[in-house]
Amino acid sequence: MKKFAKRTEVLKESIFTTMSNKARKANAINLAQGFPDFDGPDWLVQAAKDALSKDDGAYNQYASALGAPALRKAVALQQDQDWGTAFDPESEITITVGATEAIYATLQALVDSGDEVVVFEPMYDSYAATIDMIGAIAKPVTLLEPTFEFDEKELRAAFSSKTKAIMINSPHNPTGKIFNAKELDLIGRLAVEFDAFIITDEVYEHLTFESTHQEFAQWRSSPVLRDRTVAISSAGKTFGMTGWKIGWTLAPEAITKTIRMVHQYIPFCATHPMQMAVAHGLEHRSGYIAGFKAEYKKKRDLLVGGLRDLGFDVLAPQGTYFLQIKVNENAFDFCDQLIEKNGVAAIPTAPFYLKHKQGDHLVRLCFAKRDETIREALKRLQAR
Ligand SMILES: Cc1ncc(COP(=O)(O)O)c(C=O)c1O
Repeated sequence: MKKFAKRTEVLKESIFTTMSNKARKANAINLAQGFPDFDGPDWLVQAAKDALSKDDGAYNQYASALGAPALRKAVALQQDQDWGTAFDPESEITITVGATEAIYATLQALVDSGDEVVVFEPMYDSYAATIDMIGAIAKPVTLLEPTFEFDEKELRAAFSSKTKAIMINSPHNPTGKIFNAKELDLIGRLAVEFDAFIITDEVYEHLTFESTHQEFAQWRSSPVLRDRTVAISSAGKTFGMTGWKIGWTLAPEAITKTIRMVHQYIPFCATHPMQMAVAHGLEHRSGYIAGFKAEYKKKRDLLVGGLRDLGFDVLAPQGTYFLQIKVNENAFDFCDQLIEKNGVAAIPTAPFYLKHKQGDHLVRLCFAKRDETIREALKRLQAR
């Protein structure tokens, strides 16, 4: 048999799969996998059921490849009402199969083999995998613990005439960092200077605790930057429905056209009934978001406080539903022991880095879990 495609040789099993398999075998509490162990809101589940059983079955057929008009309109309204950024649902918004497809389609649309893409490490693992599959080159800039600021000189040095795009993720997985105005200003100026596209992954846009997403949204809507920026988000985190996989891209018309060309040959369209349910969710989010944020803030405080009481060195997040702890030993060994001895699964963050070694001592825990789960995990960790 001939060899499989070369592009697959660079791909590895994701650390989430590895750790979750270990967790399952050991019957451990899984704080490794980044999704809730509780259901999203009942009213949203009902909206999905309604969409599935609509009399004429209209939503059980293909949606428009651009995305159901109702959802594109709802996303446009949400962007405008929440962040004051205007996008035309006809020409600037595309519905994708989660943010993951949005990232894939955007990179395929904008980046050629041999191009360079500046990324901040640690990073969500699909960035490097997608860049690799294209044959492009990721240029990592490290977010340095404990504050996860970056070195301005390092960022500037990562740019060159080959830079095609820079990717940002704020609020940031796995550090929980929210990029500040000064950092965003520098990123924007460098993107303009080197004529690079900006891809901003904002899937945690509503998961901010002390500060807000506002500043970031205003930045990406500034006229000079808007023309070169693709913002990406999805419903999974906001509504606690990660299995629905409904995401979107927000980009100026010319970029959107190209993303849509790629998107039509990946899934063609995202699942229609789920799009309708997410449209309903966005339309009715005003009675939901504040409670959602408060709930997650409580969970963050429960896990941060509990871990600190147990003597862990916790790097508390400003956003997302992850936190990191700094450990003295190798993070992989630490995580293996945590599963074996304590029955708690976590993720070593080393695989989220391309060059820096700080991840060898960092471990990510997810607090999108029922309070009982978090309390039980803390109880088990007492035995260390
Ligand atoms: C930073 C980041 N981007 C994108 C995604 C994927 O989002 P979706 O489930 O909508 O594909 C995740 C999921 O964990 C993430 O953490």
